[in-house]
Amino acid sequence: MTDDVLADQVDYYRRRAAEYDVTAYGDVAAARARIARLVAQMRPTGRVLEIACGTGLWTEALAGLADTVMAIDAAPEAVEIARDRVRSASVSFDVVDVFSWDPGERFDVIFFSAWLSHVPTSRFEQFWRSLRGLLADDGRVLFIDEHVDERAKEAYVPGRDEIVERRLRDGSAFRVIKNFVDPDRLELRLRRLGWDCVIRRDGRDWVCGEARPARTVPDPISAALGLPSDVETFTREGLPRE
Ligand SMILES: C[S@@+](CC[C@H](N)C(=O)[O-])C[C@H]1O[C@@H](n2cnc3c(N)ncnc32)[C@H](O)[C@@H]1O
Repeated sequence: MTDDVLADQVDYYRRRAAEYDVTAYGDVAAARARIARLVAQMRPTGRVLEIACGTGLWTEALAGLADTVMAIDAAPEAVEIARDRVRSASVSFDVVDVFSWDPGERFDVIFFSAWLSHVPTSRFEQFWRSLRGLLADDGRVLFIDEHVDERAKEAYVPGRDEIVERRLRDGSAFRVIKNFVDPDRLELRLRRLGWDCVIRRDGRDWVCGEARPARTVPDPISAALGLPSDVETFTREGLPRE
């Protein structure tokens, strides 16, 4: 079922690409200014991976601060628009499914906007595990998404708490995953997976998150007993990792 929805989701964004900027952002000039402000605040430097770049509105801003940007998305129609928008030798694009992709390199920053809420609960852990493998030492994950207070704007499929129905301008209907961000819950969930995460709000609608792998310190009990420190590790908060 979830795989069918994920396929529908890609199809939806492929068909939506030409109308995406206006239907997603409304006033595109104002959105660009907001995006530039947020990206400047997040300081994405070094080698940046952008997941689900869409039409490249965020790629454009990332390119201004990063050494290099690799931007990926599953919708070729969106990537075509992004390529046209961001013409820079330091930016490369690829059409891939992020759930089955391994570039064989690591990044200082992994960024995604309006993507995490499209990751189904059943793939959440796998997704964050894959991010860990893509992140360089001292790397950061930066994300923007929609706050749970925006939930009422979606039409949830009855009985399905993460599947919504979306319509394009031509009336065609698609099913999409939508898990709005509740900052406290997401921070806790990520902490349990071994990430330190701080999420702040930007306006009523968006949240900005920054996550890093939790630094491990030797388990004090093992250390006192003279056992190897890798017998068990504790996160910075002293909680055992799940
Ligand atoms: C809400 S849009 C966000 C676009 C852009 N990041 C933004 O904020 O404007 C979600 C994007 O996720 C992409 N996407 C959906 N499923 C994907 C997958 N399995 N792998 C990579 N990208 C995917 C869609 O094609 C779409 O461009």
